[in-house]
Formats: sequence, C-alpha cells, structure tokens
Amino acid sequence: MSALLQVTSVETDIGGSRILRGVNLEVNSGEVVALMGRNGVGKTTTLKSITGMLPVRAGTITFDGQRIDQLSPDARARAGIGYVPQGRDIFPHLTIEENLRVGLVVHRRGRASDQAGLDRVFSLFPVLKEMLSRKGGVLSGGQQQQLAIARALLTKPKLLILDEPTEGIQPSIIEQIGDTLKKLKTSNISEADATAQSRHEAAEITSAVKELRKERALAILLVEQYVDFCREVSDRFYAMDRGAVVISGEIATLTDDVVKKHLQV
Ligand SMILES: Nc1ncnc2c1ncn2[C@@H]1O[C@H](COP(=O)(O)OP(=O)(O)O)[C@@H](O)[C@H]1O
Ligand SMILES: [Mg+2]
Repeated sequence: MSALLQVTSVETDIGGSRILRGVNLEVNSGEVVALMGRNGVGKTTTLKSITGMLPVRAGTITFDGQRIDQLSPDARARAGIGYVPQGRDIFPHLTIEENLRVGLVVHRRGRASDQAGLDRVFSLFPVLKEMLSRKGGVLSGGQQQQLAIARALLTKPKLLILDEPTEGIQPSIIEQIGDTLKKLKTSNISEADATAQSRHEAAEITSAVKELRKERALAILLVEQYVDFCREVSDRFYAMDRGAVVISGEIATLTDDVVKKHLQV
C-alpha cells in the first residue's frame, strides 16, 4: 500500500539559498508523525513545500495517489491537506463563530454536516463553544491555537499539518516572563494562575491530538520542539538537521541518546 503523503528528495530554495537538501518522508493514513529538529533546520520550510506556500526546485510530492508538487496551495487544500501555520492564524476581529464559519464556507457543506463538524470540534475543544460570540483576538494564545486547529478540521482534511501547535503556550522562560507580565498588567490573575492556565491549554491540545489519533480518521504531520509532547501523541518521528532528515523511526526509538545527538541545542 502506498503512503498517503510521500515526499521524495525535495529541494527548496529561499532567496537563492538552498534550504532543503533532499527531504524524504512519508505519512500513512491515520498516522500521527512528528517532524522534529532544532531551530532553523528547515521544518517549516518542509511544511510550506508540502502545502505549496513555497515552490520546490527538485523532488516530488505525492498525496492520496496524486502528484501535487506543482499544484497551487488552494488545489492542495482541496485535495485534503489542512494546514495550521506557525503562529496564531485567526481573524482577531471576527468572533469565534465567524472564524469557524470561514472553515465551513471554504468547503460549502450542507447544514447537517456543518452541525456534525461543529459538534465534533466542540467536543475536542469545549472552550470554543463557551466563547462562540467572543472576538478571536481576546482568546489566549492556547485558545487561538485551538481555534485555528478547529477551523482546519472543519475543512475535513485527510492530512492535518500543524506547525508547533504548543508554541507560545509553553513558552521559553523569557517569553513566559514577558507574557505573564503582560497578563498581569491587563487582569488580576496571579502569575501562578497564568502558568497553570498555560499548562491546561497545552494539555487540551495534547488530548485533542490523542483523540484524533484514536479515531484514525485523518493523518497528522506535526512539527514540535517538545519531545515529551511528541512521545505522547506520535506513532513515528523524523528528525531534521541542516535541510535534510537525519534519523527517523517508530516513536519508541526516539531515545534520550537520539534526542541528545540530534535535537538538543
Ligand atoms: N523568508 C526567509 N528568508 C530567508 N531565509 C529564510 C526565510 N525563511 C526561512 N529562512 C531560513 O531557512 C532556514 C530554515 O528555516 P525554517 O524552515 O523556518 O526552520 P525551522 O522551522 O526548522 O525552525 C533557516 O536557516 C532560516 O533562516
Ligand atoms: Mg518553524
């Protein structure tokens, strides 16, 4: 059986520099695959090459039995690739409901399946249902990430691609301090509350990915820096260094030695 997504010898340039030097990876139907590696090794560039945000200069990408590397990003989305880019890709001035409708409108589905899709994302992310009429911009970083994932799910992808879904939720110490200070300025919550809240939101995303994995209704390719998160949710992993995959395998083979050699700074 052939893979759902097959990336073969992909090379991608940005501004005349070779960023990807022959990336090979595959994702099978229903699998959760983690793409790992230190900062700047080409993880986001790999995802953008798959989704069509960046043109590839060599290599092939096939998805669901079709060659897609020359298709537009729209055509790749229609073929069944849902993409949640790095950062908080939501409309801050639209309500949560309106943000979700954008996901539904893209696929012009009938009302019944609208409701089924919405019910599904509300069961994965209950907080969204509670806050439907609030503006996207008032959500915390973790809640915005949940909204972005929910919106992508409403397009019913066969493959969901997530770029650092917990980034900004479990931030580095420095960011954490900055964030906490900002939160403390605008509200009365304590630093301990803010930290507990962040942990809770990251756990919600972890459990949503686990739930999706259990259903095996779609495949997930996720970029993630946090090794524990990857071990908890993934079936297999790929680790990149300087524009290529250097090691891959079943998630059980992601040992501390592998982490030390390929992933730690
Ligand atoms: N728009 C850009 N212009 C120039 N260089 C870029 C751009 N985007 C990424 N790069 C370079 O490409 C390399 C890989 O970046 P990226 O794929 O974002 O890494 P990762 O997601 O693994 O942190 C980095 O060295 C980065 O500096
Ligand atoms: Mg990145």
